[in-house]
Amino acid sequence: MTTTAHDTGIVSRPRPVERLVAGQATSDGAGVKLTRVLTQPLQRRLDPFLMLDAFGTDNPDDYIGGFPDHPHRGFETVTYMIDGRMRHRDSAGHEGLLQNGGVQWMTAGRGIVHSELPEQEGGRMEGFQLWLNLAAKDKMTTPWYRDIQSAEIPQFTTPDGVTVRVIAGASHGVAGAVQREITEPLYLDLHFPPGARFEQPLPAAHNAFVYVYRGSLEIAGTAVPRERMAILSNTGGGDGAVLHADAPARALLIAGRPLKEPIAQYGPFVMNTQEELFQTVRDFQSGRFTAA
Ligand code: CO
Repeated sequence: MTTTAHDTGIVSRPRPVERLVAGQATSDGAGVKLTRVLTQPLQRRLDPFLMLDAFGTDNPDDYIGGFPDHPHRGFETVTYMIDGRMRHRDSAGHEGLLQNGGVQWMTAGRGIVHSELPEQEGGRMEGFQLWLNLAAKDKMTTPWYRDIQSAEIPQFTTPDGVTVRVIAGASHGVAGAVQREITEPLYLDLHFPPGARFEQPLPAAHNAFVYVYRGSLEIAGTAVPRERMAILSNTGGGDGAVLHADAPARALLIAGRPLKEPIAQYGPFVMNTQEELFQTVRDFQSGRFTAA
């Protein structure tokens, strides 16, 4: 699929970079090493997104423990696997293998217990996990889950040669694999050849960021090195993102409409109030997450 909109320019006032974020090295699950790119202090700024973890290693010691059984309530997890294989099982009876270029979209809703365990003892494991908040009225919705194989992710190439994988939302007229009404998430994986430029219109009120995971990019005059998140400014009347690569590069472009609701987090539970978190812990301890 091709588009000509790109040739004429569809973004007239590119959103500048507000700041660059390096993320924090940490570990989660059973000792999986990762970089928490979107950390808790950025949850309000990047509402409706609550977390972005990046993992990428050739050393099995960094991932072999995986993420044994653990609960979630109140939001959605979106796992995008660049390289490697992870087996998912959850208390709602879902099971799937997430691998090379595939996405797993899980709505925890009122509660789920799941495990994510590597199905390999060697080789590279690389990918991302994004947490997308649910509106207060949807936090106790029925858990939902979908495995999206790599070939099922809509993809197109711009005249500049940028390959665009549309995981959520829509880009240049191509609808992504998943749509969400309230937060309207846009989740693109962009692969740039040398000298390529990519434009993406964005509603001014939507929070947006870019994470570069290969090479480097230039965004509205700011150089964005590898393994940095660039938060795009919402002020100044910008109408979208313009990304340019001098050399081969790959990056995620993520945007969404903020919920503007209170955020109360206790580990894997994200609700609106402390009282709802206490109730969540009581529900979990009394086994309500695993009941059929
Ligand atoms: Co999880």
